[in-house]
Amino acid sequence: MAKPKIVDTNFEAVDLKAGTYLWCACGESKKQPFCDGSHKGSEFQPRKLEIKSDTRVKLCLCKHTKSASGLCDGSHNSL
Ligand code: FES
Repeated sequence: MAKPKIVDTNFEAVDLKAGTYLWCACGESKKQPFCDGSHKGSEFQPRKLEIKSDTRVKLCLCKHTKSASGLCDGSHNSL
C-alpha cells in the first residue's frame, strides 16, 4: 500500500462555512488541505467532510489520520 506524502507534521486550523468539502488524503494537492484532483491514477481517494454550520476545524496535514473526514486525530504526534 502506498504511503501518503506528509505535507506537515501538524494540523491546519481552517474556518469553514456550512457545506461539503473534499480533504486530500494523498498529500499531493496544491490546495492543501483540500483535494485538487492530483490523486488521480493513485490508490488514494479524497475523504468527504460535511460541515453543518460555520465552524473552525483542525484538518490533518500529516495524512495519517484515521478520521473518515480528514480531521486531525493526533496521529502526527507519533510519526
Ligand atoms: Fe490528494 Fe485528491 S489531491 S486526495
